[in-house]
Amino acid sequence: MKDQMTPRADTARIAAGFRRSLGTYSTAATVQAEIAQELARQIAAHAPPEIAQVFEFGCGTGVLTRALRAQLNGVQFILNDLVAECATTAAPGEVFLPGSVDDIALPQGVDLIASASTVQWLPDLPGTLRRLSEALVPGGLLALSGFGTAQFAQLGALGSAGAAPGYLNARQWRQVLPGDLQVLHLSQRQTTLHFPDALSVLRHLRDTGVNGVSGQRWSRRRLTAFAAAYQARFGTAEGLPLTYDPVWIVARKAY
Ligand SMILES: C[S@@+](CC[C@H](N)C(=O)[O-])C[C@H]1O[C@@H](n2cnc3c(N)ncnc32)[C@H](O)[C@@H]1O
Repeated sequence: MKDQMTPRADTARIAAGFRRSLGTYSTAATVQAEIAQELARQIAAHAPPEIAQVFEFGCGTGVLTRALRAQLNGVQFILNDLVAECATTAAPGEVFLPGSVDDIALPQGVDLIASASTVQWLPDLPGTLRRLSEALVPGGLLALSGFGTAQFAQLGALGSAGAAPGYLNARQWRQVLPGDLQVLHLSQRQTTLHFPDALSVLRHLRDTGVNGVSGQRWSRRRLTAFAAAYQARFGTAEGLPLTYDPVWIVARKAY
């Protein structure tokens, strides 16, 4: 059954899930780390040399922030995350804005807006993208990664709601981007992890902060039924698969 939550309750649960995962994220989120590295590479490939001001939302523990610091020399970050404890991602002298990217006053006139593995949590993506585009200088870059509709396909097939609200395939991105943004790069590439059992899958989700909106109680009976169904439907010699379906997009604001 679909969750019947208000957007605000939803945001609180998303934040609670990620706050709980702060200690485990960097070890467990191996796919997100690869996604951030790829996004940083795409940004470096398209960034004009004079990039100075970067706004990154949903920075979390700084997986993309660190990848970008390594790729772009001398940039100054303004960082944001729903979880206030992520302020430690900011370097001394950098600004951290706590709260939803939809609620904060966005820094204006920035050269690059970047975010990895966060946009799928936003309830009004076209509206957010319009505001983000307005905050860019002419010629500035918007560089994001999200997830396509095959994200956690196995969970969806098993009727679990461990999913974020906004999965978009690469070709759907052109429809949600404001008209003043020109697409420079768009790609999508699935990757599948394998786990020894269903409990390990659920632990992986918890350790990466994902189950903040699942809204499900895992009684022993439910867990046993879920594990049996996962094994019967998807079990392989390698273990139980869990598919990630990342999408990368880099766009430039018109001059
Ligand atoms: C999967 S983590 C990604 C963290 C980091 N960007 C990375 O690539 O590892 C998603 C992050 O987005 C944050 N987040 C979720 N919804 C948000 C919102 N509406 N505004 C700002 N941050 C949000 C979460 O708190 C979490 O830190």
